[in-house]
Parts: sequence; C-alpha cells; structure tokens
Amino acid sequence: MTHLKIFISPVEIGLTNFEMKGSAVQFQQRQMDEIAPIFLDHEAVKKFPSQTVVYSVQSWQPVAEGTPGGLFFGVSTIMPGKVGREYFMTKGHFHAQSDCAEFYWGVQGKGVLILMDRDRNTWGEEVYPGSLHYIGQDIAHRLANTGDQNLVVGACWPSDAGHDYDEIAGNGFSARLIEINGQPVLVSE
Ligand code: F6R
Ligand code: MN
Repeated sequence: MTHLKIFISPVEIGLTNFEMKGSAVQFQQRQMDEIAPIFLDHEAVKKFPSQTVVYSVQSWQPVAEGTPGGLFFGVSTIMPGKVGREYFMTKGHFHAQSDCAEFYWGVQGKGVLILMDRDRNTWGEEVYPGSLHYIGQDIAHRLANTGDQNLVVGACWPSDAGHDYDEIAGNGFSARLIEINGQPVLVSE
C-alpha cells in the first residue's frame, strides 16, 4: 500500500556535478572503436587506444522505453579531446518519434550543441554551465566538447521519443565542428 506513505525517490542527483546515484540509474559508455566512423579523419582515429572513452551517459528511465506520456532523464559526459581537428562528440540522432522535443542544459565545461533540420541546415548553440537548450521537433542533435575539461550536460526527453541513429550514421550532419585558429567553427561537408 502506498497510501499515506512518504518515500525517498530511487534516484538522486549531485547539485554541482549532476552525478546520478541510485539503483535505477543506467550507465552507458561509447568507446573510440565503436564510434570511430563518425569522425572525419580515419587516420587520426587510429592514434587512440580502441577503448578510449569518448563519452558516457547516465540515465533514469522510470517507465519502459516507448511508453507514451512519460519522461526520461539523463546526464551526458563528453571527454575533452580531438580526432585530428574535430572535437570529441556524440553520435547524434533524430528521435524515432520525430515530433518529440527535448531539453538539454549545460552543467560543466564548454561545448557546442550541433543541430540539424530535415533540410540539412546545420547550426550550433554554445553550451556552458547554465545554458539551456530546447531541441525542437524533428531536429537532429549532437554534443561536441570544445574545452579542456569534461563537458557535462543534463537532458530530459519523452519516454516514447526513441532514437533514430541510422540517418546520421548513413548521411552524417551537413557540417562538422572543427578547430580553426583555436576556435570551434562549423564547416560544411
Ligand atoms: C536522449 C539524448 C541524450 C543522448 C546522449 C548521447 O534523447 O539526446 O541523452 O542520448 O547525449 O548521445 P547519442 O544518443 O547521440 O549517442
Ligand atoms: Mn535526443
């Protein structure tokens, strides 16, 4: 019986570093060998040990994936680094249910949220502690770390959004975030 009881939530979050704790927290890591094809410079990829962690994601999915009306919560950590001149970044995706939006917010470090619409227009939003990002319907999204410390970003998205990785894996974004004269620049493919 839950009536009149006061519970402790199964998940808590560090208010400064956003580290999630609790038995319901899931953890996923993406290593260089797994995501190597997303980077432009395939020779530069080979300089990294294959198990180099590029990013990790903690998440709390309180309902089954695909459930309408629920929410998921996550914290992504992208390591600092560059493959050639291209910053470490996430795979990036459209949502499978393409009318599902998402919020991101910057917690630590600095980076760029790279966004692309279905017409393949690509643009970026600067990510920094306190930056808040609304990722609208049908917009592909990817995070790149442009700093020299971990980039930590919170996220909240609908439980029925799903992930379409194939479109980006096949066709990429129409621009890449490259370091030019020490600055991040979006360069058309
Ligand atoms: C969820 C979401 C984030 C990303 C995470 C890793 O919809 O956008 O939690 O899943 O930043 O990026 P991907 O999923 O592109 O590997
Ligand atoms: Mn998403």
